[in-house]
Amino acid sequence: MNNPFDQVIDRKNTHSIKWDGLPELFGEDDLIPMWVADMDFKAPKEVVQAVTQRATHGIYGYEGDYQGYVQAFSSWLEKQFAWSVDGELIRHSPGVVLGLVISIRALTEPGERIVIQPPVYTPFFKVVSDNDRVIVENPLILEDGHFTMNFKELEEIFKSGVKTMILCSPHNPVGRVWTKEELNNLARLVTQYEVTLLADEIWSDLIFKGHQHTPIASLSPEIAQRTLTFMGPSKTFNVAGFYLANIIIPNETFRRRFTAQIKALSLEQLNLFGIVAGEAAYKHGEEWLNNLMNYLEGNVEYVIARLATVAPQIKVFRPEGTYVLWLDCRSLGIPYDQLNQFFVKNAGLALTDGQIFGSGGQGFQRMNIGCPRALIEEALEGIEKALKTLDS
Ligand SMILES: Cc1ncc(COP(=O)(O)O)c(C=O)c1O
Repeated sequence: MNNPFDQVIDRKNTHSIKWDGLPELFGEDDLIPMWVADMDFKAPKEVVQAVTQRATHGIYGYEGDYQGYVQAFSSWLEKQFAWSVDGELIRHSPGVVLGLVISIRALTEPGERIVIQPPVYTPFFKVVSDNDRVIVENPLILEDGHFTMNFKELEEIFKSGVKTMILCSPHNPVGRVWTKEELNNLARLVTQYEVTLLADEIWSDLIFKGHQHTPIASLSPEIAQRTLTFMGPSKTFNVAGFYLANIIIPNETFRRRFTAQIKALSLEQLNLFGIVAGEAAYKHGEEWLNNLMNYLEGNVEYVIARLATVAPQIKVFRPEGTYVLWLDCRSLGIPYDQLNQFFVKNAGLALTDGQIFGSGGQGFQRMNIGCPRALIEEALEGIEKALKTLDS
């Protein structure tokens, strides 16, 4: 076997929600799990080595020094995005989602309105409403098979007094990597209306050829002052189980308030294995990431080509980044609330139901292609078989 990403690794009984959670979440065990966003690939070997070496030490006391990790992350930002960020501006949380919650609690009041752009990552709804804030939706526009932001409506929303926005960049689940021009438009509005922007850029490293991620806060000092940027090694290097995210907060007041919440919650210390894995990943993971993106590109091409022949009714949006595919299944003629179970029962596939991403998600399914090609082939066979049941 030449390509390490081709290796099928048994993840059952490894405390993996993606694999071990199937019976509880989908009602069956024997499915190909293509739902939650982690990948069925080993992390870069340097990460495995660093974690193994630290594990072998045998003493796992409280963490107390993560400067090496912060420096490695800063260097990564400089190299990947030509973005110079002083380590002093970086804060951390056990995951991006918790970081969003902390930011919302630190920077907004109960009852305040927060704008999000569905169809979008489901926890965005939860982090707002579970914290007694109010969701305002600015749905993406789908035109000629292409998703864009509705700037006109967004300006109206800002004019109405909404002061906080959660941006998904790149955008899960539709796979858009926002262009510099789009981000400049957004930055102009955010600055003009003095909005606080929570920029979830967790997918920023998973970009396909021909596209470029721009951290919105890197566009100008003005937008940097209005933005908290959420990143981390979890998606990029497949280490989500270590629960570690980085939040870049150039604005001194925002940073002070965020830090006060972190202290109030006693979250100052980081996960020991998270910083060990993260430092190794940011220092040594670039070649692995390039190889990963080439492999994922092959998966994308394969799915697009196979679906075009075996299931032309399903329309795929070619992703510009991420490792999820947004499948438009509206032409299958299956009631939208039965679609997900249709794939479970007839194709042996656990996909993410588009409905959970909010407005615009009805009739869609999200497919995680972060797995060996052999699983993708099996999944496509399942879909082919399932569609035959519709004809008969
Ligand atoms: C947009 C987005 N933000 C955040 C996360 C999760 O981040 P974390 O595991 O660090 O909370 C995901 C995972 O799929 C995601 O798609």
